[in-house]
Amino acid sequence: MGKRATNLMGWIDARLPVTAKWKLHLSEYYAPKNFNFWYYFGSLAMLVLVNQLITGIFLTMNYKPDALQAFASVEYIMRDVEFGWLIRYMHSTGASMFFVVVYLHMFRGMMYGSYRKPRELLWLIGMMIFFLLMMLAFTGYILPWGQMSFWGAQVILSMVGAIPVIGEPLKDLIMGDYMLSDAALNRFFAYHVVTLPILLITLVVVHVLALHEVGSNNPDGIEIKKNKDPKTGIPVDGIPFHPYYSVKDIVGVIGFLIVFFGIIFFAPEMGGYFLEYNNFIPADSLKTPDHIAPVWYFTPYYSMLRAATVDFLGISAKLWGIILMGGSVAIFCLLPWLDRSPVKSIRYKGPYFKFALTLFVISVFVLGWLGTKTPTPLFTTLAQIFTVVYFAFFLLMPWYSKIDKTKPEPTRVSG
Ligand code: HEM
Repeated sequence: MGKRATNLMGWIDARLPVTAKWKLHLSEYYAPKNFNFWYYFGSLAMLVLVNQLITGIFLTMNYKPDALQAFASVEYIMRDVEFGWLIRYMHSTGASMFFVVVYLHMFRGMMYGSYRKPRELLWLIGMMIFFLLMMLAFTGYILPWGQMSFWGAQVILSMVGAIPVIGEPLKDLIMGDYMLSDAALNRFFAYHVVTLPILLITLVVVHVLALHEVGSNNPDGIEIKKNKDPKTGIPVDGIPFHPYYSVKDIVGVIGFLIVFFGIIFFAPEMGGYFLEYNNFIPADSLKTPDHIAPVWYFTPYYSMLRAATVDFLGISAKLWGIILMGGSVAIFCLLPWLDRSPVKSIRYKGPYFKFALTLFVISVFVLGWLGTKTPTPLFTTLAQIFTVVYFAFFLLMPWYSKIDKTKPEPTRVSG
């Protein structure tokens, strides 16, 4: 650095500790040296977040939050706005990729026990982020005001209305009307472009701060802070995040961008999974589509909602469905306390955990697939079976994680 630049930096540092923070969070933040493929997805989630914010701003410039104009304004963006098609596809594909990346990010946490002490709060903040992400996807999907926007929202809002006592007033409050109308579309636009993004960005910052407080976990599930060099005080199995992981993450970014733009240029609707065909028809409150299904990332929960078919314990089947659906997401919050294994990582866990996790993944895929289908008696029975498998993974965890035959954790990270 030249003398002038050094002086300028000194002047800034005396007023705002930029260099100290750079060191604390990047050049002297020691991350375990054995990060693998699964550790790409945190930085990729940030990349997708930035993509959504930038493309979202450009979409907002031409979108009209008005029940009579919204659908046409999206078509206008696709056909007449310069590169409007690219911006819209980057945003719609980005929404699906957000879920791909975040699901893989969470799965990594489940494999390596990243939710365990001392990262319980980090995990809970992650769950709050996940909840916000679902709200963002839901409110965004309403905006084009197509048939699926309208009828999908109708299904979700009727669920809010079914919550005892507070349901109906809450539903009216969210919508700003007694039915899904222009007022509701205006509110959802405000939630989608202002309220939820601000909350999401704030929580992502808190998420990274919480991570840097406790330090990263790793594929061996060993706490590297427990083994520090006595002279330097630096973890012996740690390397500075910058430049080592900042450079490594570029590899993930390039791989991701190839897939991302491959989808945008060659299959932006992804066979109806990323953009549903029925949503290319303007919303019609008098014509219910034959088949209502949410976008792929919500279909496992949708299956569980439909799996409840009988009234039980004085609670209606509909409310049971809502309880199952809400419970299937909320139960992730309990993971730090359900896992009683003496080791964190799947590398040293025993066959019971590996079997349970495999069954869980299968149940998510099967439920996801069933959620895209029109229910038949066979499909409903399958959904019920796999809902049980899904919940068993969590509810039986205190038992099988305790009696499982684990391997001893090494003292140093491997690889
Ligand atoms: C917008 C969404 C999210 C962003 C931008 C984000 C960002 C990050 C980043 C940059 C890291 C550090 C790098 C890495 O370990 O991959 C990280 C770690 C972590 N995140 Fe997230 N995250 C998001 C959502 C979530 C969710 C939904 C969960 C779980 C419910 C979660 C749980 C964790 C955990 C447990 C770690 C520590 C992992 C370890 O050290 O092994 N995150 N996150």
